[in-house]
Amino acid sequence: YKKGVKYLVDNSKDMKMVPWEFVLPIPEGERPSMAIDGSIPVIDLSGLNGPDEQRLSTIHAISSACAQWGFFRVTNHGIKVSLMDEMVQVVEEFFNLPIEEKMIYGSDDVMDPVRYGTSLTTTRKHNLHWRDFLRHYGGLIPHTYHLWPTNPPAYRDVAKDYLKEVWQLAVIVFGAISEGLGLDPDYIESSLGDEGTQLIISNYYPACPEPNKTLGLAPHSDHGGLTIVMDNGITGLQIKHNQTWYSVPSIPGTFVVNLGDFVEVLSNEKYKSVEHRAIVSAEAARISIAVGHGPEMDAIVQPASPLIKEKSESKYRPIVYKDYIRAQQSTIKRGKSALDEIM
Ligand code: SIN
Ligand code: FE2
Repeated sequence: YKKGVKYLVDNSKDMKMVPWEFVLPIPEGERPSMAIDGSIPVIDLSGLNGPDEQRLSTIHAISSACAQWGFFRVTNHGIKVSLMDEMVQVVEEFFNLPIEEKMIYGSDDVMDPVRYGTSLTTTRKHNLHWRDFLRHYGGLIPHTYHLWPTNPPAYRDVAKDYLKEVWQLAVIVFGAISEGLGLDPDYIESSLGDEGTQLIISNYYPACPEPNKTLGLAPHSDHGGLTIVMDNGITGLQIKHNQTWYSVPSIPGTFVVNLGDFVEVLSNEKYKSVEHRAIVSAEAARISIAVGHGPEMDAIVQPASPLIKEKSESKYRPIVYKDYIRAQQSTIKRGKSALDEIM
């Protein structure tokens, strides 16, 4: 299955069942279809540019969304819908390329700067996930630009513009989160270091004959600080809130923003990164584009010092970000187990 789920589906005539390798041991009560329709907080970001009172109430809304949900939707985020649409378009065109073109980027090595792959780890033989992906680094200075896909021809330029704008959005939200925590507005941005890590993961989840038996992505939390997600209008993201799975509807033109482990640690557990997963649809292929923003690889991940009066108040032991990523990616345990290791 190294060539991906889309290739498998496209080359099987009228698939009626999910091949056994993709059937996942999902607990009865957690089946994809059991999720409740959710309404995560909606934040109108234009409030941050308003008069003081409005600015403060927007920051307050963000900090309560972080404390209560770890997820929120942003509107009036300043990124043109036309750029969002173009980005979805080039990603869709990439996944629609002939398999040989995609396999140029095929890789099992989690450290490769550009990777096309499938499931969670391409090396697994079963418990596979209904998902193909393309991932690579972005960043303020995208050092890997010359390695990004050259097909479709517009990919590199559109992705470069998109990633730049999304980075700026992340900085704005990090600023509001910093202020909400009582830190200097640029506290989180500075803690990312000179070369914070930006990672784009584009997911393609083909239409699936038995969506209740498999998942696009298993439950996990994100290792970075802030993930900014959009999709092609098909709903599929679910988040675990109060032990219940909630479905987050797709609303075109908006982004879903979630906190990752880095912010959980930095806030000394005031905010928690939240487990989420992607389910698949019987009717339509879903594309989601998730962009993670975290510190530079050599940064030390630890609670913000102004939040800790005495050492004993720190809930996590310091760890180098890249060591944390390695631990998180190599664990076979699901959910937030890597974070438990440093608590
Ligand atoms: C992700 O968790 O990175 C992607 C979620 C989604 O497909 O919406
Ligand atoms: Fe995620």
